[in-house]
Amino acid sequence: MNLILLGAPGAGKGTQAEVICSTLNIPAISTGNILREAIKNGTALGMEAKTYMDGGKLVPDEIVINILKERLSADDCQNGFILDGFPRTVPQAEALDKMGVVIDKVVDLEVADEKIMQRLSGRRVCESCGASYHLDYKPSKVEGVCDKCGGKTVQRKDDHPDTIKERLQVYHDQTEPLKDYYHRTGKLVVVEGQEEVADTTALTLKALEA
Ligand code: AP5
Repeated sequence: MNLILLGAPGAGKGTQAEVICSTLNIPAISTGNILREAIKNGTALGMEAKTYMDGGKLVPDEIVINILKERLSADDCQNGFILDGFPRTVPQAEALDKMGVVIDKVVDLEVADEKIMQRLSGRRVCESCGASYHLDYKPSKVEGVCDKCGGKTVQRKDDHPDTIKERLQVYHDQTEPLKDYYHRTGKLVVVEGQEEVADTTALTLKALEA
């Protein structure tokens, strides 16, 4: 099954992708994670992407489209995949179509902007292994220390309140039109994000069966 998870920053795409990929046994591909890895490794791509990401802007289409093309050609994608954070613009969706990729379902995770502000401003991620926590909803056992690897947990640069506002604006302007794009293909299913992660997962899996 080839899936797209659509939704505002902080709607819970990454959280859901992690659970669904182990349930369906297909890889979850996050363009955000690929870009953050490039930044961590100090590659030329990472250096270029960082300036956009830190300011809450989108990385140019051409760059992310090439990243995705390469990732989808890997062996582990041949039986299906979950796209988390791609496409984010209409040209990116058109590029996916041009690659001949057939999408089975597009899950649109809906969460109100005010809730997103709370979720993202409280998020902390491990610098070493990338595990994600939340100060209120999912705290690590010892504040500032990752439960999984003992690494330091930090706030993402783009999770500062002003940058979250910018990311939400970019989402409404450039990504939200994709709801129409996929609604027209009959592939869009809408899932209302719940307070509990497990409740959202149950709704998402139900929507995939329909
Ligand atoms: P990316 O990493 O894709 O960030 P994002 O879409 O902004 O998504 P997030 O990771 O912030 O949120 P999420 O929806 O995955 O939420 P999560 O599950 O973590 O992209 C980062 C940047 O890279 C972009 O801004 C852009 O610059 C660039 N980029 C990436 N792809 C690109 C593309 N295709 N084109 C151009 N540029 C691109 O959840 C958030 C928080 O909420 C967590 O703390 C979690 O614990 C909590 N939470 C989740 N679910 C619940 C729940 N049900 N109840 C309570 N708390 C919850």
